Amino acid sequence: MPIDTFPSDFIWGAATASYQIEGAAFEDGRGESVWDRFCATPGKVRGGDTGAVACDFYHRYGDDIRLMRELGLDAFRFSIAWPRVMPDGRGAVNAAGLDFYDRLVDELLANGIEPFATLFHWDTPQVLEDAGGWPVRATAEAFAEYAEVVAGRLGDRVRWWMTHNEPWVHAWIGHAWGEHAPGRTSEADAVAAAHHLLLSHGWAMDAIRRAAPDAQAGIVLNLAHAYPASDSPEDEAAAWRVDGEGNRWFLDPIFRGSYPADLLDRNELVAPLLQDGDLETIAAPIDFLGVNNYFRFVVGAGPNGPQFVANPEAQHTDMGWEVHPDGLYKLLVRVANDYAPPAIYVTENGAAFGDVRVHDGAVHDPERTAYLETYIDAVGRATAEGAPVKGYFVWSFLDNFEWGHGYSKRFGIVYIDYPTLERVPKDSFYWYRDLIAAHRGAPTPSPVATG
Ligand code: FCB
Repeated sequence: MPIDTFPSDFIWGAATASYQIEGAAFEDGRGESVWDRFCATPGKVRGGDTGAVACDFYHRYGDDIRLMRELGLDAFRFSIAWPRVMPDGRGAVNAAGLDFYDRLVDELLANGIEPFATLFHWDTPQVLEDAGGWPVRATAEAFAEYAEVVAGRLGDRVRWWMTHNEPWVHAWIGHAWGEHAPGRTSEADAVAAAHHLLLSHGWAMDAIRRAAPDAQAGIVLNLAHAYPASDSPEDEAAAWRVDGEGNRWFLDPIFRGSYPADLLDRNELVAPLLQDGDLETIAAPIDFLGVNNYFRFVVGAGPNGPQFVANPEAQHTDMGWEVHPDGLYKLLVRVANDYAPPAIYVTENGAAFGDVRVHDGAVHDPERTAYLETYIDAVGRATAEGAPVKGYFVWSFLDNFEWGHGYSKRFGIVYIDYPTLERVPKDSFYWYRDLIAAHRGAPTPSPVATG
């Protein structure tokens, strides 16, 4: 797919999240987050790693923005740490915490980079978890207050807003499987958390609209195309079930104002939580859908329900995720056809590989470059077929704290030497720089030295 098939105003970006990069976990009045607590609980995170220092982005963002400029980024996606802004979850605002995001936004804009701000990327204030967390409605109410504060402060400059990142992951991996903070293991908690995340999305949309009427606002979902293992009706039904649990459970309420009728067990759990007006709130019009995608599912009918079928022939990343760019192409075309979002941004896509820094000081990561090249090609094919994709964000700008895997998985196009926190652009960084430059029709930029 030649690069000039992307529209000229297509946005090339890179993505990160607060807890994964910021560090400074105990500075300037930041409150405890569920991830601080989870990391401090023995056995939860590989090697006992924590986000206490991470990439130290909190202090080094100026240098990192200079690197983004060298890369030629149009946009940078980051998230705001709720416990930095409201250490008690609601009520008093911590001025020093909010000031950090104010400086970050100004610095991005001064360098010609559009801030894409996500209000929530899983770091709930621990006090709210102690009071019941996302399974209780009060947390959604607190989130609406927090959204109001942040949008009120940054809404004059931030033009793109995302309420939540991947509510499925936070609800299920954090509340049913116990592998992410807050580490709960209850299906009922997961369904309740998902409903309150969606509800608070609707309320936050309203807060953003009031503070920034001209902004583009939406939500980010993790979506994966579910391929039936064969064309048997049983396998097709199994794939439809997986699609329902992961994709439609979020897409349907947002775009259609209803939960999927076929997921009866989930509907039974959500029914007692539903109050009048909730579904209308959740279905408030969005300006764009953020799609995070890394892999596809192949699903067959098993004796106890759907089962995932591995493809041993395929390439897999360091996460064990199958590399299958056509899954992103199919997903984007399907979402565009079935839900007609006004715009789509691919808000995360990328790959972890076991990168090493070699004797010449460089990091050669041809697998990542190949991954990005083929997935971006898939985005281009979907766009050419009419999917309204307006931008693409590589996950991630920096190697960072990969949740339960700690620092063992490297997704960055910039390598972090953790003992020194030195930043080393990988080969994929230069490849992406050249792609962005080619799209602009400009000669490859040389590194900019700015003070
Ligand atoms: C997504 C998350 C992001 C990162 C990538 C690899 O599910 O949104 O924070 O961990 O996966």
